[in-house]
Amino acid sequence: MFLKWPKKVHIKEVGPRDGLQNEDKILSSDVKAEWINRLSEAGLVSIEVSSFVNPKWIPQLADAEEVFSKIHRKEGVKYAALVPNLRGLERALKADVGEVCLFMSASETHNQKNINKSISETFPVLEEVVAEAKSAGKTVRGYVSTVIACPYEGEIPVSQVKRVVDRLLEMGVDEISLGDTIGVGVPSQVEALLSELLKSYKADQFAMHFHDTRGTALANVLISLQMGITTFDSSLGGLGGCPYAEGATGNVATEDLLYMLTGMGIETGIDRNRLLQAAHFIEEKLEKPLSSKQMELARRTRKE
Ligand code: HMG
Ligand code: MG
Repeated sequence: MFLKWPKKVHIKEVGPRDGLQNEDKILSSDVKAEWINRLSEAGLVSIEVSSFVNPKWIPQLADAEEVFSKIHRKEGVKYAALVPNLRGLERALKADVGEVCLFMSASETHNQKNINKSISETFPVLEEVVAEAKSAGKTVRGYVSTVIACPYEGEIPVSQVKRVVDRLLEMGVDEISLGDTIGVGVPSQVEALLSELLKSYKADQFAMHFHDTRGTALANVLISLQMGITTFDSSLGGLGGCPYAEGATGNVATEDLLYMLTGMGIETGIDRNRLLQAAHFIEEKLEKPLSSKQMELARRTRKE
């Protein structure tokens, strides 16, 4: 059998948001802005800058406004942020966000723990946010978390994921990012999920958001590529996790994803050297070794 790979893949960098929300060390807005500038200079054209959530819940990102005011906005780059409600949207629009990212969960318990509402209470809140964001001329992305399994409820049926996807797309969300929040998924589960969703929707309506807690993220990227998905979220250095999913570690690392895609002849527009420089920068600021394979290799070869 001859497999067909896409010519181009869009990588969405979520490190400044997903990565930093789970770090004990709180970085200054100057350091965050400098890191984001380095990411855009490396060729990333979609960067999730921060979250306009309740700062009591995620103190690491309480300075979202300051970070937005300090970044150098490179032409052609979309600077996104998480927005949970109208209060968050108001803050995001004032900060001139490039894309509004809603988030909710396919699992009832994770949704409740993460955003303090049931799934059915969440829909009308997000519906208003989509309408307002669209009338302000913004594109809207919708994250669906726990698409494979939930840390509280275990495996999540595909029908439960579809129910949330259906509602978000009905509201007018432009792209859905399907999150394996706790990094439990294996390729056969990803295949089952996408097979069902692709009966009703097109592959370019989805992005995949794999956490790499058990080392299956790149395998899951590969099966998604085979199924026609061409947008993937990743985090530089493999930083990240969800504070409301205990034990979940970071996203697939941007540099590891880049290594695989480049080796397969797939274009991303990202400069590997600049990307690794940005990884060394944030590693130094966080004062801890980053866990990606590429950064581990860099440490080993420096010592030898
Ligand atoms: P709540 O506490 O239930 O909110 O939070 P509330 O509506 O009852 O309001 C309580 C207080 O929060 C009020 O202030 C509001 O003004 C304030 P007070 O009167 O007490 O002083 N408030 C806000 N302040 C600033 N900005 C806002 C805002 N909203 C309310 N936007 C809420 C509800 C959703 C806001 C809260 O639960 C929250 O902030 N949750 C954030 C959770 C979060 O950020 N989780 C991590 C991101 S999701 C993720 O990582 C998964 C993902 O990566 C995909 C994957 O991996 O699967 C995306
Ligand atoms: Mg995540």
